[in-house]
Amino acid sequence: MNILDLITKKRDGQSLSWEEVNYLVQEYNNGFIPEYQMAAMLMSIYFQGLNNKETNALTAALAASGETLDFSSLDKIVVDKHSSGGVGDKVTLVLAPLVAAAGVPVAKISGRGLGFSGGTIDKLESIPGFSADLTTGQFVDLVRDNNIAIMVQTESITPADGKLYALRDVTGTVENISLIAASIMSKKIAGGAGAILLDVKTGRGAFMQSREEAFHLAEIMVRIGKDMGKRIVSVVTDMNQPLGYAVGNALEVKEAIAVLQGKGPADVERLCIVLGGYMLALSGRVRNPEEGQEQLMRLLESGAALQKFRQMVISQGGRLECLDDLTLLPQASFSDEVRASKGGYIREIDARIVGKVAISLGTGRSCKGEEINPAAGVVLKFKVGERVTENDSLACIYSDKEEVREPACRELLNAFTIGEERAEITPIIHGVVPPFPN
Ligand code: URA
Repeated sequence: MNILDLITKKRDGQSLSWEEVNYLVQEYNNGFIPEYQMAAMLMSIYFQGLNNKETNALTAALAASGETLDFSSLDKIVVDKHSSGGVGDKVTLVLAPLVAAAGVPVAKISGRGLGFSGGTIDKLESIPGFSADLTTGQFVDLVRDNNIAIMVQTESITPADGKLYALRDVTGTVENISLIAASIMSKKIAGGAGAILLDVKTGRGAFMQSREEAFHLAEIMVRIGKDMGKRIVSVVTDMNQPLGYAVGNALEVKEAIAVLQGKGPADVERLCIVLGGYMLALSGRVRNPEEGQEQLMRLLESGAALQKFRQMVISQGGRLECLDDLTLLPQASFSDEVRASKGGYIREIDARIVGKVAISLGTGRSCKGEEINPAAGVVLKFKVGERVTENDSLACIYSDKEEVREPACRELLNAFTIGEERAEITPIIHGVVPPFPN
């Protein structure tokens, strides 16, 4: 086998065998295929696409390129959850302890922020002392002992995906649906859970802007998961306006705690309950998602989910007093209000603009390894459909960067569309793939 033959084969629209895809990934991962040839292969794939068998082969080869986790020592089905990324998406912070409180082990490997969307690890690390840098052994032990652990994606898990993703990023080949599906699913397969819940976001603040694309991605990922023996459901959810009100690491931790106390925004609570219902059903704990939802509502109301969150935070080194007194979480040195220039109904709050403003305030990185500000971010005061009057405070920005104050406020105002007529409220859930039960 040689790489040049494989590039021309794909370029000319032929399909690659399982062995050829495997060869490609292994040789690239081991440094025997240079970046320029892999770039040519990626561009051929971008234009010619991958069929189901090739996509499965790519997923399996990427998953096998590093460490894979094994939960077979637990006598229960372990569940994992993945979001395709959004703005204000603090769902994992609520959902993981909520499902764990129901007795279902949750093993979550998460990334840091990507582009305009925030990352779960950055959010959790805004709790002083909290560490997601676990070894795979520590991770498995915590899942066994507490039913919950959240670990940062390391280079030892799917290293070939890490290399390939970085190359796709600089060769204009990220936006190929088979490559995206294989990249996400390889990490889920290596993560070792028996059941997987995928939250595929669509809208202005999502990578998949159209619903058609989101459903297509959801279907491909569900097929890959099933072919690999996983119990799997994808829920396609809305990401046109930010989720909840808070966007920013410590700000989102505070909002997640409010949800766990039963005092959080309705959209976040509803999404967590719906997604959690599927996770409980996938694990076999309940007969159907509706029964799961009822159980989870009780766990939220009783405080059991909040207790589980606290246990996770202590077990991973976080300072508990920061959860009891939220003023001990990182605080920004200044805040500014953004005010409505006219009255009317809020018709749109563009999540992409809010996400980008939040990054400019310090919530995320514009290059790899950059320091972030855990206290920075945006807190919205309204949701789409609500009425405002002129000069009402629409949102508040938090940062330590003096120079971004004025441009951030100006740009954030552009995220709001205010009109005479009340906008139709988009439902938070667009659909489920496959329709449950499967
Ligand atoms: N997230 C991933 O992990 N991979 C992709 O290709 C896109 C989003």
